[in-house]
Amino acid sequence: MNSMKQTTEVLLHLAPAEVANLKEGINFFRNKSTGKDYILYKDQNHLKACKNLCKHQGGLFIKDIEDLDGRSVKCTKHNWKLDVSTMKYTNPPGSFCQDELVVEMDENSGLLLLELNPPNPWDSDPRAPEDLAFGEVQVTYLTHACMDLKLGDKRMVFDPWLMGPAFARGWWLLHEPPSDWLERLCRADLIYISHMHSDHLSYPTLQKLSQRRPDVPIYVGDTERPVFWNLKHSGVQLTNINVVPFGAWQQVDKNLRFMILMDGVHPEMDTCIIVEYKGHKILNTVDCTRPNGGRLPVNAALMMSDFAGGASGFPMTFSGGKFTEEWKAQFIKTERKKLLNYKAQLVKDLQPRIYCPFAGYFVESHPSDKYIKETNIKNDPTQLNNLIKKNSDVLTWTPRPGATLDLGRMLKDPTDSKGIVEPPEGTKIYKDSWDFQPYLDTLHAAVGDEIFLHPSWIKEYFTWAGFKNYNLVVRMIETDEDFSPFPGGYDYLVDFLDLSFPEERPSREHPYEETQARLSPSPVWVSSGSAANPPPLLLPDPPCLPRPCSSFLDFCFTSSLRQGAFPPLPGLQDSVADMGL
Ligand code: FES
Repeated sequence: MNSMKQTTEVLLHLAPAEVANLKEGINFFRNKSTGKDYILYKDQNHLKACKNLCKHQGGLFIKDIEDLDGRSVKCTKHNWKLDVSTMKYTNPPGSFCQDELVVEMDENSGLLLLELNPPNPWDSDPRAPEDLAFGEVQVTYLTHACMDLKLGDKRMVFDPWLMGPAFARGWWLLHEPPSDWLERLCRADLIYISHMHSDHLSYPTLQKLSQRRPDVPIYVGDTERPVFWNLKHSGVQLTNINVVPFGAWQQVDKNLRFMILMDGVHPEMDTCIIVEYKGHKILNTVDCTRPNGGRLPVNAALMMSDFAGGASGFPMTFSGGKFTEEWKAQFIKTERKKLLNYKAQLVKDLQPRIYCPFAGYFVESHPSDKYIKETNIKNDPTQLNNLIKKNSDVLTWTPRPGATLDLGRMLKDPTDSKGIVEPPEGTKIYKDSWDFQPYLDTLHAAVGDEIFLHPSWIKEYFTWAGFKNYNLVVRMIETDEDFSPFPGGYDYLVDFLDLSFPEERPSREHPYEETQARLSPSPVWVSSGSAANPPPLLLPDPPCLPRPCSSFLDFCFTSSLRQGAFPPLPGLQDSVADMGL
């Protein structure tokens, strides 16, 4: 049981002279042998310490010169701010905490910064892998992030999005799901839903499923923001939703167990899962930005993760200033490459036997999103798999809908021609038409909601969303589908510093942006958020944002980020951070 032992690592040692020279407030240090940076905060006799590593994307902190109290540091990458006296991020407001290190004096009055590594929860009650019979464990790819797993005599399904759009009308399925998808869902013993985003928590899909099997057992992590926060309003009847604690094995039968883990960057809403059958682990990190804070099991039998990028509306929906077409194209190229390298490195570090890129098979197929579709280039799974193969001997699988991987066969002999069974010749892989109309009707229905007859909804909505203390002024202009101002539509200013609605822009210096919000999708998120009989499509939708929009994401940000209101859009924080706000 050695693996269960908690370990301690000394990250930095300060000599007595350095300790004596510590100044009140913020001190920066670098460990010369590791090249890693640390921050020490001194308040008389109290010391606090952390890594000099921003929780957002690992940027380096420097002193925040705007902070007169000398307690804050500012990230050099996207300007997030951390108050090191409390170890809380102050910008974005009310958001994350920084992990603290342990500070210990040694016997010579020197000082040690220690990191305590708790044991990995999946190492509790470890099981040695047993041989798997052929056909005993089969993994079938359905669409996007949806996998159907046969594990002995149990069936488990991940993140079923098999019909309708996600994010209002922004994302549509790229792949044609196998025709028996509903049967597969109906016979599931367990369905895992990783988080609340509508490409994972798909109410249209669950609606269909619930008509046949309302009691299908669904499992979600115990996130601060419940995955099914809007179940009641969705109108979907599901009677067997199970919220499980993080980091604890859930025993399904004598061979099968699973453990849900939280994301390190979005612990309040995002999760990933380890499924273990007869000692073989299947690791699904889904969309997690930093799954379980970066601590994950090595040598899993199968690992799957997102790969594509392009989930955020940034920067496609921005214009003006630096947002030229060239800038955007270059930005997208660089970001996608970074993501590709990060994923390849993660796979190399974790050394699963087999890796499968998934959860990125969507397309902005509604005609009004043509521009987004053409510019929002995503990573190619084959490209990632080639990169992985170049750097390691991990086997890779680029899944096609209906294709099945037989884990027992693949582990025994990766060259076994029956290890992966592709869909029959002639099976349609890519969708070429989408049933837009019923979903658009739902969106349009929200336009007539009574709440919009009263201008007071604006104040109510923003107050309810609760985002403020940002030096940002946004003008919201309702438009028609062609981005012409909608006759009689709303046109107003929001000052996010004090959440007021001035007639004119304030005289202080402030970032200012204008948003043209197309009328059809926007009321949906307002009405659904404000509990006015919402349709089952919930979220504002980056891909359907208007091209000339330069600030819509800020707006979404206000309504979503950490205020317990709307879930944040994928990549939204990154977008806001990238804007330097
Ligand atoms: S990495 Fe620090 S704000 Fe983005």
